Amino acid sequence: MYMKVNSEKFKKVSRLLLTVSLAMGLFACEDDTQTDSFSTKDVPELLELSQAQKDVLAYLPTNIIIAHRGTEFWAPEESEAAMRWARNMGADYIECDLQKTADGVILALHDESLLRTTNVETIYPNRENDYVSSFTYDELLKLDIGSWFNEANPEQARESFVGLDILTLDDVLMIAEGKRIKRNPDGTRVVERDENGNYLRTVYEDDPADNGNRPGVYIETKSPSLFPNMEEALRACLEEHGWYAENINDLKTIAYKDGQPGEVDIANTPARIILQTFEPTGLVRMHEVFTRPIPTLYLFGDSAGPASYARYINFAIENGATIMGPNIDYIEGYPSSIEPWQRDMIRKTGMHIHCWSFNTQEQYMEYCGPWQDSAGQGGPEFNAVDGGFTNRTDLALRFYKETLQGYADQGRNYFRSNAHVGMPDNIHAAKTMRIPQDVLEELGY
Ligand code: G3P
Ligand code: CA
Repeated sequence: MYMKVNSEKFKKVSRLLLTVSLAMGLFACEDDTQTDSFSTKDVPELLELSQAQKDVLAYLPTNIIIAHRGTEFWAPEESEAAMRWARNMGADYIECDLQKTADGVILALHDESLLRTTNVETIYPNRENDYVSSFTYDELLKLDIGSWFNEANPEQARESFVGLDILTLDDVLMIAEGKRIKRNPDGTRVVERDENGNYLRTVYEDDPADNGNRPGVYIETKSPSLFPNMEEALRACLEEHGWYAENINDLKTIAYKDGQPGEVDIANTPARIILQTFEPTGLVRMHEVFTRPIPTLYLFGDSAGPASYARYINFAIENGATIMGPNIDYIEGYPSSIEPWQRDMIRKTGMHIHCWSFNTQEQYMEYCGPWQDSAGQGGPEFNAVDGGFTNRTDLALRFYKETLQGYADQGRNYFRSNAHVGMPDNIHAAKTMRIPQDVLEELGY
């Protein structure tokens, strides 16, 4: 199990290195040198955002907390437990990655392989190395995505995580709407089937623990070579749920529990979906398929010099992105791609910045903290982050609600105004701080 966890880390570092190499191939500039002082020669002019991009930014809130894979820390990643937990904790967005099954079901699953997060070796011993895309959803429903987490995280382990099943994108959207999966007494999900017995859809029910929160859903497409038409399938799924519409006025209104809104309601705004990808081709396809532009993040992890960095930004702008997604310094030995000069370059364009991935208060302080301003006055323009992916929604809330608010109470404003989207500057100030384990108990885990 230890090997698997490390192999995920290894994969992440390899992907970062690959991104760097890609960038060098795509946007290479001989004047970029990684020395103490970067060359600023041949830095291209930064492009202007289109009116459509400005329109998107006009409804995008800031200082958002994005629950990375639901949560990796407190529950098995991208499981029903993780997503319900993040919703009830007060995350503004629940994040998922997309894979697709052989029978076309869109999954909320990070890896192309089942080895790291399931018991595939036991259930399908001859297929353990196969792509997830070679399995039908019915086959995947036999796998357990909770046990590996219990083994890898004994302090967070819960018996009730054993047997959790792989989620679909439908599941994530329904959880964001305050529902849960309807289950049989043995824990298997209630599903509808066609006349041949094939899986059609899952049945949902009101979540008795729903506290009225309606987070947005932050969706990452992966592996464009495996899933060339994922963007079309994604758009169709979102349209079916009323989460995307060609006309913004046709988006569904999502009901609250007993008519009472909770503390998060981004799902009832046009910012309800944010798309993200590391893949240049993925970004191009999103731009083509989502004909009404919606908030879109271009992810990258690149410590290259100003010319390459500017080319990344311009590529993103040309292809409809409204947010840049650099990494903070969170993998040992791999530098952040959001140093002050990089932050300034993105800020100049007016794009937002959502960084990945925050695990500690110290990281929040480093990238959003009061000393970002050399004059000591603070101010949102000095922060590197408009939103952060985090595995610790609980710590993120504490940072925004209490730690940073403490400085705001001293007369400094560290928040970018959300007034233009009808939200207070600090969208977390009024949220309830819940104990993570208590939320899991309240959800029945
Ligand atoms: O999606 C945001 C960022 O964390 C990407 O990394 O590997 O978790 O999808 P990953
Ligand atoms: Ca992701």
